[in-house]
Amino acid sequence: KEAKLWGGRFEDSVTDAVERFTESISYDKQLYKHDIMGSRAHASMLAHQGLMSISDRDRILEGLDEIEKRIENGEFNWRTDREDVHMNIEAALTDLIGEPAKKLHTARSRNDQVVTDFRLWCRDAIDKILARIKHLQVSLVTLALKNEGLIVPGYTHLQRAQPVLLQHLLLAYVEELERDAGRLVDCRARMNFCPLGACALAGTGLPIDRFMTSDALGFTAPLRNSIDAVSDRDFVLEFLSANAITAVHLSRLGEEWVLWASEEFGFITPSDSVSTGSSIMPQKKNPDPMELVRGKSARVMGDLVTLLTLCKGLPHAYNRDLQEDKEPVFDSVKTILGMLEVSAEFSLNITFNQERIQKALPAGHLDATTLADYLVKKEIPFRTSHDIVGRAVALCVSKKCQLQDLSLDELRSISTIFDEDVYEFLGVENAIKKFSSYGSTGSACVASQLDYWVAKLEIR
Ligand code: ARG
Repeated sequence: KEAKLWGGRFEDSVTDAVERFTESISYDKQLYKHDIMGSRAHASMLAHQGLMSISDRDRILEGLDEIEKRIENGEFNWRTDREDVHMNIEAALTDLIGEPAKKLHTARSRNDQVVTDFRLWCRDAIDKILARIKHLQVSLVTLALKNEGLIVPGYTHLQRAQPVLLQHLLLAYVEELERDAGRLVDCRARMNFCPLGACALAGTGLPIDRFMTSDALGFTAPLRNSIDAVSDRDFVLEFLSANAITAVHLSRLGEEWVLWASEEFGFITPSDSVSTGSSIMPQKKNPDPMELVRGKSARVMGDLVTLLTLCKGLPHAYNRDLQEDKEPVFDSVKTILGMLEVSAEFSLNITFNQERIQKALPAGHLDATTLADYLVKKEIPFRTSHDIVGRAVALCVSKKCQLQDLSLDELRSISTIFDEDVYEFLGVENAIKKFSSYGSTGSACVASQLDYWVAKLEIR
């Protein structure tokens, strides 16, 4: 067996079971790019500070290039006995260039190294997620543009409430996603500080320049406190929280569209390209992608809970428990990227069944609140008008008709305030025209919301 990099004080080697249990190379090899990036910056700084010769630095940099190439070509031999990505790369560098490689770990610990890698990795992951969020927003706005003027029932308690423009609803998702992106942007800014040079926990007496490595790696500044630098994972918690909230939003979208694709609603038809069939029921066409968007949100929430639980009992500073921080993040990122991609794909592949929606609109007295507003405009106190319209609805229920079907005499039998002009307020088409408050579902308001997003997302 090869001696461990940390093997100096040990007489015996670890058992196979311990080696298998403690390794992280099987998954943290994903950090290789960022680990090499960190090592490049660190070696350059060491040479600049006179802690390593220029020629050693150059051999290290060339060696790291070569290792990166081998990894990318699948020619790198990842070894479990070398524990993790950091020691795999360092040991391979030593195999490749010999003595100079042994200087690379000067004034560095795996404790600051791993969290530097991880911050860099998360930073890149955030950028990828932001791009996908934007793509989904663009897809939803595109869908909205294709469905101008379409009125759908708006629900509260999943009961018919008021008519809304479909565009208005689609733009509600876009707003949610914008805040999701905002949370990631904030998280990225708070995350973007450099732990490198904190060493094991206490810093070092060697003359390093932490500002130099921080700059080289594109961080805002080095973290102020070395103990905090190696033990903090709140940047991960924040990232996973942001993903969990995004996942909840996507899950709600999934739920809505699964519902709308049902025979009972029948509001949307997903194209074959985003549907799947049943192995037993020949007639089935299921909206599986959105069901899985809803389902996979569970993992993303679970990943957050895993990290919260992981961190809650840890004394300062580094503890090996922290090695468990990676898989939930990898899982969260992979899952949320997939959810965003598929949600966009799905939204570009559904059609709204205008006829079916049109037929559904008269049911549920969606214009009742507009009618109450009509009475308010005639100076009836709202509570009174609510009661009057309630009685009009009760009359409709007993007559099995709509508010607009009631004659003026019938309406006047409930309140003499009703006049001929009442019919301008009844029926969903009329009702929708009456909305005018900022942010409402009125056509002009929705059109200006749409203009805002078309410009902001640079569509067309
Ligand atoms: N693989 C470890 C991790 O992911 C690296 C740091 C190990 N540090 C240590 N002192 N054993 O956290």
